[in-house]
Order: sequence, then C-alpha cells, then structure tokens
Amino acid sequence: MAREIFTFLSSLTLIFLFTHLATAKPTGFSRTLSPSSLGLRKEKLTHLHFYFHDIVSGRNPTAVKVAEALMTNTSLTGFGLVSMADDPLTTGPERGSKLVGKAQGIYASAAQDEVGLLMVLNFAFIEGKYNGSYLSLLGRNTVFSTVREMPIVGGSGLFRFARGFAQAKTHTFDLQTGDAVVEYNVYVAHY
Ligand SMILES: *[C@@H]1O[C@H](CO)[C@@H](O)[C@H](O)[C@H]1NC(C)=O
Ligand SMILES: *[C@@H]1O[C@H](CO)[C@@H](O)[C@H](O)[C@H]1NC(C)=O
Repeated sequence: MAREIFTFLSSLTLIFLFTHLATAKPTGFSRTLSPSSLGLRKEKLTHLHFYFHDIVSGRNPTAVKVAEALMTNTSLTGFGLVSMADDPLTTGPERGSKLVGKAQGIYASAAQDEVGLLMVLNFAFIEGKYNGSYLSLLGRNTVFSTVREMPIVGGSGLFRFARGFAQAKTHTFDLQTGDAVVEYNVYVAHY
C-alpha cells in the first residue's frame, strides 16, 4: 500500500515538474549566473582604520543642520535634528593628516531618552586601489558610549557585495564647539 502511495506521489511530482518546465518560458527578467562571470573570485575580509572629522563650527563646517522639529530645542537629546555631512576621513587624528575619503550622508537625532543618532552614510574612498569605491553604513550611534557598532550594509566597486560592521570610538569631542574626531575600525567581507 505504502509503495502504491509513493508511486502515485512520485508521478504527481513528475507531472508537476513537466508542466512547470513546459510553461516557464525565458523572459529575460532573471537568470542564474556564476560569480566568476562578474569577476568575483574568493571572498576576503578587509580591515580599514581611519579618523572621521565632524566639524560643525567655524566658517567651513563639514556637517550642517538641515532640519529640526519645533520641539527639538526643548529636547535634551536634540530629538528631531537632521544634519548633512561631508566629513573628511584621514589616516591620523590630526586634521591635516592624509585624506583617504569622505563620509557623506545624514545623521539624525532619533532617540528621546539618550543621545542616539540614526546614521546613513557612504564612506567614499579616494585612497589607492579603493579610489572610487564606497561602503554604505546604516546604523545607530549612541555617541556617548565608548564604542558604537554599526552595520556596513553594502558597497560599490571593490566593495561589491560588502557586508560587515564599523566600530566608532570618540577620539576628541569639543564641548564648546561641538566638533568631534572619531576613530573608525571597519571590518568588511567582500570579493
Ligand atoms: C524653540 O524654537 C521655537 C521656534 O523655532 C521658539 O518659538 C521657542 O521659543 C524655542 N524654545 C526654546 C526653549 O528656546
Ligand atoms: C581618484 O580617481 C579620480 C578619477 O578616477 C582621479 O581624478 C583622482 O586623481 C584619483 N585620486 C587619487 C587620490 O588617486
């Protein structure tokens, strides 16, 4: 009996497969291809280390406020504040040290009970072989924590298919001006 049921089910499967194959016409919409056809070889892990300069004061700020809510000025955490950044990334903590790229994007105060930023940034690199490639970061930055971890969700060029995480650690923060230098360690898997 079990055998007959098995045979019956197998026949059903075969009928389904044949009718499915017969009706699945290529449309040009999707196809399967080998990673090598895109020049993708072995996946590797890369560690990047740089300093992020967030200059909000002076005549040449690198990050500017673009929006806020009516209640932002009454919030202890600046809830609702949105800033656009084009922050230099350098090899050392000094502003004049070698420029390796820019952090371009938005950070916004997204928490009411602590200072917690929504970070939406592209790290656009200009250094060596990474010139022209970028990494995309999307994460939560509780700026008063010692180390903040944020996901790297993708990338371009040499960083195609990138995923990983960034660890940010404040190097210096000027309470008077609001300017900050933040050390970044970024770990990404990519091809
Ligand atoms: C906050 O800003 C609004 C207008 O933007 C102003 O009317 C209000 O007085 C400000 N409140 C404080 C506490 O500064
Ligand atoms: C990066 O690439 C651009 C255009 O491809 C080029 O103009 C520029 O000089 C390069 N920068 C560095 C630092 O190599």
